Amino acid sequence: MKQLHVLVVLLIYQSFAYARTWNDTGKGLIAFEEAWTIPELATETGTLRANLLDIHNQRLTLMDQNGVDFMVLSCASPCIQGISDPAVANAMAVNVNNQLAAQISNNTLRFGAFAALSMHNASEAAAELKRTVQELGFLGGLVNDYQQNTLIYYDQPDFDVFWQMVVELDVPIYFHPRTNVEPIADLLYGHAPWLLGPGQEFAATLSGHILGLCTNGVFDRFPDLKIIVGHLGERIPSDLIRIDAQLARQLPLGMPMLLNVTTYFHTNLFETTSGNFATDLLQFHIKEIGLERIMFSIDYPFVDIPSGTTWVDGLDDVLTPEALLSLKRGMAIKLLKLNG
Ligand SMILES: *[C@@H]1O[C@H](CO)[C@@H](O)[C@H](O)[C@H]1NC(C)=O
Ligand SMILES: *[C@@H]1O[C@H](CO)[C@@H](O)[C@H](O)[C@H]1NC(C)=O
Ligand SMILES: *[C@@H]1O[C@H](CO)[C@@H](O)[C@H](O)[C@H]1NC(C)=O
Ligand SMILES: *[C@@H]1O[C@H](CO)[C@@H](O)[C@H](O)[C@H]1NC(C)=O
Repeated sequence: MKQLHVLVVLLIYQSFAYARTWNDTGKGLIAFEEAWTIPELATETGTLRANLLDIHNQRLTLMDQNGVDFMVLSCASPCIQGISDPAVANAMAVNVNNQLAAQISNNTLRFGAFAALSMHNASEAAAELKRTVQELGFLGGLVNDYQQNTLIYYDQPDFDVFWQMVVELDVPIYFHPRTNVEPIADLLYGHAPWLLGPGQEFAATLSGHILGLCTNGVFDRFPDLKIIVGHLGERIPSDLIRIDAQLARQLPLGMPMLLNVTTYFHTNLFETTSGNFATDLLQFHIKEIGLERIMFSIDYPFVDIPSGTTWVDGLDDVLTPEALLSLKRGMAIKLLKLNG
């Protein structure tokens, strides 16, 4: 009976999944660092918890009120990356993805999904990404930084089987931050626990993973790979001159990277504005990496929808109408292939 239910849901979903045809003439915003979760994984309480679990009620109402056409949902951090047991993690990823597909199946014009993936095993992660993209109509995957139990980073050659699948499916992978496992959090932030989370820990930890992908040559082995980084690039595009100047000195030490980080931000890496609505910094990043690498996002429900939409709607002072449309939706339509 349960299997039949899943099948029916999948059939209904598929009939909607490929029916989106977006184009650049619309006006509404597209946002895709937007969190959702299931009760089994929710550690939050109160309103935040209710907003994470919800899709069709307060979330959609706020989208309508603030001009958000489309949200790509993904499982709130740390999700599967916080599950130490490989078998439990893999089963939970499948469970989360099936629940998300079922929940958005009646409104795929307003909601899309990024897959949750167990990253304990690169082949299994590749298989689940393939299933969710091909069978559930998902638009890519989202990983919450490293996979515990031990810290697994996806920048070593044994992850090439995963990156090969990502490139074959031609979907992006979003790199989202996570809180550190306890011994690391205690050692690094015991002296100033207020730096845990978005103030410092998130960008500091995730930027190391992104720079690991760069310096370990992942983008040289997979020149078509597309990675999205939130929060205006976890600070990396603010610091490219120093990063690349100093990395150049590492080359004689056998660093695999063939190009430089600046170049990968023009060819492989994209950033979103999620939770970092800083106009001067956006303009500096446009100079550093180009407008066509930057897309709007919010980070709901950790960040209020109106604080993001009010900011971006006010950018008509500093961006041309074409540039603003690209930021609000144009690049997202291209990258996520929402135009059919
Ligand atoms: C763009 O989309 C709008 C609304 O979905 C539609 O009315 C319009 O005809 C489309 N334009 C093009 C050029 O496809
Ligand atoms: C989709 O299903 C949910 C849950 O039953 C419901 O709340 C929502 O109104 C439905 N949306 C549409 C567009 O039918
Ligand atoms: C990863 O999973 C595959 C398929 O289930 C299995 O054959 C392989 O041995 C696993 N690799 C590791 C390192 O556990
Ligand atoms: C990165 O590499 C490009 C292409 O070789 C070069 O033009 C640029 O100056 C380099 N950037 C930095 C910051 O080193």
